[in-house]
Amino acid sequence: MISKYENVGLELIDSLREYILGLWKSGVPSYPSMNVDGWKTDEQFFEADHLAVKALKHDLYQLVGYVNFSGWAMVNTQGCQHPRHQHTNVLLSGVYYVDPGDPPTPTEFDLEEFDTGRARVLSPLASPGTLITFSEGVWHYVPVYRGTRPRITIVLNAKRQDNP
Ligand SMILES: [Fe+2]
Repeated sequence: MISKYENVGLELIDSLREYILGLWKSGVPSYPSMNVDGWKTDEQFFEADHLAVKALKHDLYQLVGYVNFSGWAMVNTQGCQHPRHQHTNVLLSGVYYVDPGDPPTPTEFDLEEFDTGRARVLSPLASPGTLITFSEGVWHYVPVYRGTRPRITIVLNAKRQDNP
């Protein structure tokens, strides 16, 4: 299942963008990721003592209803891509767009048609403040980014209680 929310956390999204780009430019090495040539924070992003991060965490909690979640920010520049993968051992996952890039480059999801079971790709349009949530096991990927402005996303995984 996939759900889409618009205009999430817009009040502090510029502050969030500056914070993430600041971390990226500071030279902190990328946390290991399947993302090809992209940059990733560690997976405790939501523990940051930063007003915009705390506010977003609260907004996301109100939307997804889970308090036990981890997350990270990602910066993709021209040529980056994230190969097809799925999130496992989670209750729900989400991708929040601080900036979908220019041209906007949404994450694409592989789904099955209800009637035929045939595969189809869903590519929900994204703008700053869009949140897409998706169920455990849904295959997804980010196509090669062709733009010049950094594409900035925050990923969240609502964890099962037995998943520390
Ligand atoms: Fe993912």
